[in-house]
Amino acid sequence: MDEDAIRRETERVRADWAARGRHWDRRADEIAEQAARMNAPLIEAAEIAPGQQVCDIATGAGEPALSVAALVGAEGRVFATDLCPEMMLGARRRAAAQGLANITFRTADMLALPDADAAFDRVICRFGLMFCPEPARAAAEAARVLRPGGRVAYLVWGPRAETTMFTVFTAAAEAVLGPLDTLDAIDFERPFSLGAPGALAAALTDGGLVQVEEREVRFAPRVPAEAPFWQAQFDMAFGRALDGMTEAEQRALKEAVQAGFERLREGDEVPLAVHVRIGTGVRPQ
Ligand SMILES: C[S@@+](CC[C@H](N)C(=O)[O-])C[C@H]1O[C@@H](n2cnc3c(N)ncnc32)[C@H](O)[C@@H]1O
Repeated sequence: MDEDAIRRETERVRADWAARGRHWDRRADEIAEQAARMNAPLIEAAEIAPGQQVCDIATGAGEPALSVAALVGAEGRVFATDLCPEMMLGARRRAAAQGLANITFRTADMLALPDADAAFDRVICRFGLMFCPEPARAAAEAARVLRPGGRVAYLVWGPRAETTMFTVFTAAAEAVLGPLDTLDAIDFERPFSLGAPGALAAALTDGGLVQVEEREVRFAPRVPAEAPFWQAQFDMAFGRALDGMTEAEQRALKEAVQAGFERLREGDEVPLAVHVRIGTGVRPQ
């Protein structure tokens, strides 16, 4: 992709996330509650420890940056980084409420981090790399800001069809709104662009990282059917599209989603499948 095309695509992504910002902000606390399950394998893969300088990329509503700030402690620091300041409103609010003094927020593109070479012990990124038009270049930029021997860990969605929340949302969107490729405000492709096994590892290797490993992580939570377990994800997934819909359309979409989960119901619970992938690499000495 040439530089102009990258700039245009990055601007499109930024505008899209800016429009979703308020939906993420009002769900920031719920996202945090749901975060632990996703954070644990990423934090373990990144080998986070007290005292480290950590860059979290695509921080959004605040995870894993806030959890990692607590782990690195007063001697360490987390640099929470996102293309879109609107997306970090909830993160700033939560950091202040928790009295976290070792976290710095900054607005930056993962392709052009505002840091010196070798500034960090760790670079981490949860559900962000897929939105970059050049993931291998983003990995190279992460390598640049890592000290030699420093470690990067990315977490991305696996294939869309292997996470129940998205299969239900996709079917509902298609039934109520029309074919996905005509729905400009709903992006059910890009979040899964690094989902095929090997895609994440290839981006890290092409970015110049070594000791690259990729592994799949699956969860199979059973959630209470009566609980509003999908509401936060719904707002986040459909954020920009919801703003452009009539109340009747919004209601129809929600009913279609509810019906989709109802079909999966087993007794009082809904069994969910979740597939994420973690890629790690090390900056060569
Ligand atoms: C799905 S959210 C992930 C937020 C958070 N890490 C989480 O797991 O809940 C994706 C985030 O990536 C950010 N993003 C997209 N492209 C980016 C880029 N080129 N550089 C930095 N952040 C980017 C968006 O603004 C958005 O906040």
